Amino acid sequence: MKNDIKEILFTEEAIKRRVKELGAMITKEFEGEKLLLIGVLKGCFVFLADLSRQIDLDCEIRFLTASSYGFSSVTSSKVKIDKDVGFDVKDKHVIIVEDILDTGLTLTALHAMLVGQKPASLKTCALLDKQERREVPFEADYTGFICPNEFVVGYGLDYAEKYRSLPYVAVLKPEIYTT
Ligand code: IMP
Ligand code: MG
Repeated sequence: MKNDIKEILFTEEAIKRRVKELGAMITKEFEGEKLLLIGVLKGCFVFLADLSRQIDLDCEIRFLTASSYGFSSVTSSKVKIDKDVGFDVKDKHVIIVEDILDTGLTLTALHAMLVGQKPASLKTCALLDKQERREVPFEADYTGFICPNEFVVGYGLDYAEKYRSLPYVAVLKPEIYTT
């Protein structure tokens, strides 16, 4: 797996530091409240696990599935989400937790769907933000790092279901994407 890596963009240490900062920000902002963290599967699983342990508040943790990429590294511009979330959002302070904000289509669709269920507040948190790739205007309330316009893997992010368990965020060698 490590032989496929061209370059590490965000190291394990840098991510740890930033996640701690995000957790502290969220803790301060929601002092005295309970939170509902909704992770967008599957890419969020590592980030949400680490972030939730840096938030010093009562947290309910739920997951939603959204997919726009399938097995390719080129977006299909179509977002599939479960319309029936299967849990209650009404009157709760909700933060949607995403691995990466890319075209903005996923978070735009999820945000619109959840707003309709009348949460007390609704915020979004993305570890990475590929600002250059935006197709619809959407900004996260909490962002870990601005990410260059490259397909990245690791810390939950995959390429064809591989590399999610790498502890850092990296770019693969070009030949990996073409084989
Ligand atoms: P958006 O709807 O284009 O903003 O898509 C965001 C989703 O696409 C993320 O939740 C990821 O699952 C996936 N994605 C976007 N960029 C990358 C990448 O560089 N590596 C892995 N997955 C990505
Ligand atoms: Mg995702």
